[in-house]
Amino acid sequence: MDCVIVYFSLTKNTKKIAHAIHNAVAPLVARCDLKALKLVDTTKLDNYDLIGLGSPVWAAVPANVERFIQSLPVLEEKHAFVFSTHGTKPERFFPRIVELLQNKGLTVIGTRDWYGSVYLPNLPKPYFTDGHPDAIDLKEAEDFGREMVQLSTKIKSGEAEPPPLPEPLPPEAYGSARPRIKKTFHEKKCRFPECRLCMDHCPMDAIDLSLFPKIFKKGCEYCYFCEMICPEGAIEVDYGSVLEMGVSRAKDVFLKALEKAEAEGRFRPLIAKEDIGWETPYYKLHNKHPRYIIPKDEK
Ligand SMILES: Cc1cc2nc3c(=O)[nH]c(=O)nc-3n(C[C@H](O)[C@H](O)[C@H](O)COP(=O)(O)O)c2cc1C
Repeated sequence: MDCVIVYFSLTKNTKKIAHAIHNAVAPLVARCDLKALKLVDTTKLDNYDLIGLGSPVWAAVPANVERFIQSLPVLEEKHAFVFSTHGTKPERFFPRIVELLQNKGLTVIGTRDWYGSVYLPNLPKPYFTDGHPDAIDLKEAEDFGREMVQLSTKIKSGEAEPPPLPEPLPPEAYGSARPRIKKTFHEKKCRFPECRLCMDHCPMDAIDLSLFPKIFKKGCEYCYFCEMICPEGAIEVDYGSVLEMGVSRAKDVFLKALEKAEAEGRFRPLIAKEDIGWETPYYKLHNKHPRYIIPKDEK
């Protein structure tokens, strides 16, 4: 069996899970590649029998991951599985991504999610799910990878059937509550071409500083990563304007959902309730530029 694990990961939670799955799958199969989504040649995907796809939850499926799947050739008779990390609520992610993959002829044989640390500027820091994925999550990811290889083999030999999958949701289920705050670009502070961090790390490829005037193209998904990683403060976003919204959603929606998940044994908090940073939203805690330093890959 030839496998590939493809992932999109902005802050490396999903990447850690992808590595764990890869580590477990590689010894079991003839070949197992691990690739960042941006670097995948979609025309070569039909060389694989089993495709694992990982992504964070951004309301549902991030737009770049949707576009990636839509750009795939038809992959009849291939098996796929999906994994995600998120800060509370994956409900809209799996129905959508399963539907997209099935539209490409793929047989989806499994889905699995884990909690991940959250770095959204207007949410409390520490956040409820910080510390995930931890060693226990990574061990579960390895088990999941092995399970997917075994299931794929059994389905191919007729010994097993694909499991029931989340049903598609109606289009109105996908409205996004994520705030869309205007960005102001301070050209004088920008050090392009010496620095091109925002351009290279924009997951939507929506920034081009090589043009005059420098442009923030259509397609921005308001993740604010460009503002967070800019070392100069050349991109300005008024997070104060959405602070109240962030804190009230964290209290009324995210905290409640996580308390329910904890009571049902689906969430293992690693941050004590009294340590949640209600008074220190991420952007206030990290009030110098860059607000977020892209971590070096762990060995
Ligand atoms: C732009 C953006 C939107 C997000 N939307 C959601 C969401 O709707 N639901 C959720 O549970 N988590 C959401 N998160 C949190 C991420 O899913 C979570 O931090 C995830 O583990 C990040 O994975 P990564 O480190 O691989 O990028 C969002 C994060 C970002 C940056």
